[in-house]
Amino acid sequence: MTTTPTPDTRFDGRVVAITGGAGDIGLATARHLGRQGATVALLDVDAAKLQAATTSLEADGIRASSWHCDVTDESAVDGVVAAITERHGVIRHLFNNAGIQGAFRPVLEYPADDFVAVHRVNVLGAFLVLRAFARHMAANGGGSVVNMASMAAVGGPPNMIAYASSKAAILGMTQVASKDLAPHGIRVNAISPAFMGPGFMWTRQVELQAAAGSQYYDGDPAVVAEQMIGAVPLRRYGSVDEVPAAVAFLLGDGASYITGINVPIAGGIL
Ligand SMILES: NC(=O)c1ccc[n+]([C@@H]2O[C@H](COP(=O)([O-])OP(=O)(O)OC[C@H]3O[C@@H](n4cnc5c(N)ncnc54)[C@H](O)[C@@H]3O)[C@@H](O)[C@H]2O)c1
Repeated sequence: MTTTPTPDTRFDGRVVAITGGAGDIGLATARHLGRQGATVALLDVDAAKLQAATTSLEADGIRASSWHCDVTDESAVDGVVAAITERHGVIRHLFNNAGIQGAFRPVLEYPADDFVAVHRVNVLGAFLVLRAFARHMAANGGGSVVNMASMAAVGGPPNMIAYASSKAAILGMTQVASKDLAPHGIRVNAISPAFMGPGFMWTRQVELQAAAGSQYYDGDPAVVAEQMIGAVPLRRYGSVDEVPAAVAFLLGDGASYITGINVPIAGGIL
C-alpha cells in the first residue's frame, strides 16, 4: 500500500525574515521554509535579484514579499521591521544571512577600505538587523534567530582577513545575544557553512584564490577547486540546498532548548 507523505507544516502561520534573501543560500532557505508553511520576507540590497527571487517563490505557491533594504542603513533596517509587521503580522523568526566576501589579498597587501566595507556589511549590518528584529520579537512574545557565520571564522583561510575576522565577530555576537536575549524568550544560534556551491561565492572564491598568487593555491581555478575539495573529508563541495534544513531546525520549535551554539555545515572540516 502506498501512502501519501504528510506535508511538513511546522512553519505554518509563521513569518520569517531573511536578509540576503535574494542570494543563493537566502533564496534556498526561503523556499525550504516556505514549503513548510512560512510566510517569507526577503530583504536584499539588490533590487533586481530580489524581484526575481520573490517571483520564483510565488510561482512555487509560497507567500513571499520583497523588501529593498541595505542592512548597513540603521533607519532603513528599523523601518523595514515595522513595514513587514504591517504587511504580515508578528515576525517570529530571523535568518540574519546577508554578507559579502571582500578582496582576496595577503595581510601585507590587504586594502583598509575593503576591510572596512566587509566589516560594515558583515558585522555592523548583522548587528543592526539582529537588534531591530530582536526588539520586535522581545515586544511580541519572543522568537528565534540564526546568524550566518562561516567556517572561515575559525579556519583562517589565506587571503581573507577581512571576511574571516568579520565572521569570527558573528560567533561572538551570537554568544552575547543568546545571553542578553534569553530573558526575552529569544534564542540565537549561528551556522558556519564552508564551500557551498555551485554558486556566486564558490565561483568567486575559487577564481580569486587562484588570482591571489599565494603558496597555498594554484593559479588555475580548476586546480584550486580540487585543492579545496581535497581538504573536505566528504570530498565534495556542499550544495546551497544543504544549508536550509539546519536553519529550519535551529529556528523551529524542535530546537527550543538550544541557544548560543554554532553549527558547522562543512563536510567534516574541523
Ligand atoms: N556560499 C558559501 O560557500 C558560504 C560559506 C559560508 C558562509 N556564507 C555566507 O552565507 C551568506 C549568503 O551567501 P551566499 O553564498 O548566498 O552569497 P550571495 O552573494 O549569493 O548572497 C548574499 C546576498 O546578500 C546581499 N547583500 C550584500 N550586501 C548587502 C547589504 N548591505 N544589505 C542587504 N543585502 C546585502 C547580496 O545582494 C546577496 O543577494 C553570506 O553571509 C556568506 O558570507 C556563504
